[in-house]
Amino acid sequence: MPIPTPKPAHIVYRTRRFAEMLKWYETVFGTHLVYANDALAFVTFDDEHHRFAFANLDVIAPDGEADEQSPVGVDHVAYDLPSMRGLLEAWEALKTQGIEPYWCVNHGMSASLYYADPDGNQMEFAVDCFATKAECRAYWSGPEIGQNPVGVEFDPDNWLKRLRSGASEVELLAINLDAEVSPLRGRFEELVAS
Ligand SMILES: [Fe+2]
Repeated sequence: MPIPTPKPAHIVYRTRRFAEMLKWYETVFGTHLVYANDALAFVTFDDEHHRFAFANLDVIAPDGEADEQSPVGVDHVAYDLPSMRGLLEAWEALKTQGIEPYWCVNHGMSASLYYADPDGNQMEFAVDCFATKAECRAYWSGPEIGQNPVGVEFDPDNWLKRLRSGASEVELLAINLDAEVSPLRGRFEELVAS
C-alpha cells in the first residue's frame, strides 16, 4: 500500500549561504522565521508550521566548498499556482529586485517560470493550462505531447502586456505546436554542455 494522500509540506536545504538564502526566500516566497539558531532556521509562508528549513553547513560541517553539488539529485521542486496573472505580477516585482527566472516555458499542460536560489537550487512555479486537473492529466494521452514533450518558451513581459490589454489566460496558455521545441534549461543544459 502506498503512503496515503501525501502532500508536499516542506523542503530542507543544506547551504553555506545561510543569511543570503533566508533573505532570498523571504523576498520570493514572503517567508517569515519561526525558529532559528546558528545551525538551523525554519520559515513558513502560510499556516503550515514550516515550509522550508535551512541547515548552515558553515556550522555543521565547516570544511567544504560553497558550491559543492553533484550531477545526481533533485533537479527542481515545483509549486502549483492558481493564476498566470498573479505569477507574472510577481515576476515583474521580483525582477526589480534582481531575481529573474532561468526558464519560461509552456509545457502544454502547465506553463512555468523556473528560478534558482542563491545556491543554485532550482524551482518551478507552474500554472495549469486547463481548468481541471483531469484535463491536464488527459494531455499526457493526447497527440500534442508526442509533438512537443518539453514545451514552448514564452516571454513573460509579452504575456503580462497581453493580459493587461485584455487577453485571457486561456488564450495565452494554449500551446502553439508550430513553435520551436524548447531546449531543457538550467542544470540539465549545463550538464549537456559540460
Ligand atoms: Fe517540473
